[in-house]
Amino acid sequence: MLARAGFGSRRVCEDLIADGRVTVNGEEIVLGARVEVDRDVVQVDGVPIGIQPDSVYYLLNKPAGVVTTADDPQGRTTALSFVPLEPRVHSVGRLDLETEGLLLLTNDGQLTHRLTHPSFGVEKEYLAEVEGDPGRGALRSLREGVELEDGVTAPAKVSAQAPGLVRIVIHEGRNRQVRRMCEAVGHPVTRLIRTRIGSLRDTQLGPGSWRELTQDELRELERSVQLLDETAAEASSSDATAEDS
Ligand code: URA
Repeated sequence: MLARAGFGSRRVCEDLIADGRVTVNGEEIVLGARVEVDRDVVQVDGVPIGIQPDSVYYLLNKPAGVVTTADDPQGRTTALSFVPLEPRVHSVGRLDLETEGLLLLTNDGQLTHRLTHPSFGVEKEYLAEVEGDPGRGALRSLREGVELEDGVTAPAKVSAQAPGLVRIVIHEGRNRQVRRMCEAVGHPVTRLIRTRIGSLRDTQLGPGSWRELTQDELRELERSVQLLDETAAEASSSDATAEDS
């Protein structure tokens, strides 16, 4: 609970409790004590703490024709309209209007920042149906870097899956990047589907369907952007009680 209120890692919070700096309803608490978030007054060094609402994480299979912005002046369907209204969430990055596939929606700002910041290099995988059949030269260009108006693209993982069907893995998040890359090598995209965000995949989720991330998926994602170290991940899965302390 202290960790959720932003007091730092589990270990830091345990130290605060061990040092006798945490009280609940005026009484010093020990590790593992149960706290009712709605009822109890929790203080650290005599200062009451506010608990952040629980974070939610939804994985949506965005259909084509749906916008990723929160509101659309043209009244088109938004990705947010597929998931519960409360708590309010935002999308992690964007998909173009016509791009389909996996989109993460959450109210967790820190995870959003890390998943979208280029320095964390989170991979995004796409299946692109393109005009024509890209040959070895075009595939090599896509792989090594393509000159776009905002600079050369970083090396990408690219493989032909079938004639006119290319799997592209990028770790930058430039606007319409995959479409522009394919266009630049002479094979404009006719259909684009995102099939993976970092460690997140789901081949069962139908267009317009969504689900919550599992604990394992969330932990894996957090670990990939250094929000969770190995020790904390193991501890949190083996000891649920301490999370409430
Ligand atoms: N690249 C694109 O061209 N469009 C998307 O929606 C995502 C990546």
